[in-house]
Amino acid sequence: MEIHRYEKLWFGAALVLIVGFIATVVYGAAGVGISMVDDDGGTIDPNNVTDHPKFEQTGLHEAEGDDADYEASVIARRFIFQGADPLEVPENSVITFYITSPDVVHGFKIVDTNANTMVIPGQVTEMTVEFDEPGEYGILCSEFCGAGHENMAGQLTVVPEEEWGGLGGDS
Ligand code: CUA
Repeated sequence: MEIHRYEKLWFGAALVLIVGFIATVVYGAAGVGISMVDDDGGTIDPNNVTDHPKFEQTGLHEAEGDDADYEASVIARRFIFQGADPLEVPENSVITFYITSPDVVHGFKIVDTNANTMVIPGQVTEMTVEFDEPGEYGILCSEFCGAGHENMAGQLTVVPEEEWGGLGGDS
């Protein structure tokens, strides 16, 4: 069968595009550290979130394992971040966040970092972040959650090591 030269050319160009599109999708899914909220944090009864040991008290706690220096428990609800308004952590610390929602899906994005996760009712989101740079970081809700979504904000302060007074800012 005779295939016209231009037809071969277009066929080749279309193939390059398809491979290129698949490559960008694969890179976006696997190459930049983006993943779905997984089972690591476990499940939770969304109607009784404060019955869960991680959420009896929100805010910063001593870490239970060796993977992080501290743990931070945050309840994202319409339209506040309970436990992260503000949350103070020391410079050069590794924090494991436990975040859940008693109402609808929210987002938890720490501005100027690559930390951004979904918060799903019934699920505990576990996310570990290292903070090297002292400063004020805004926390935003990155999933549309209703009429107050755009006002849903928290605050994270990374305190310089020499000014860190230890735990005590729990709320
Ligand atoms: Cu919470 Cu948008």
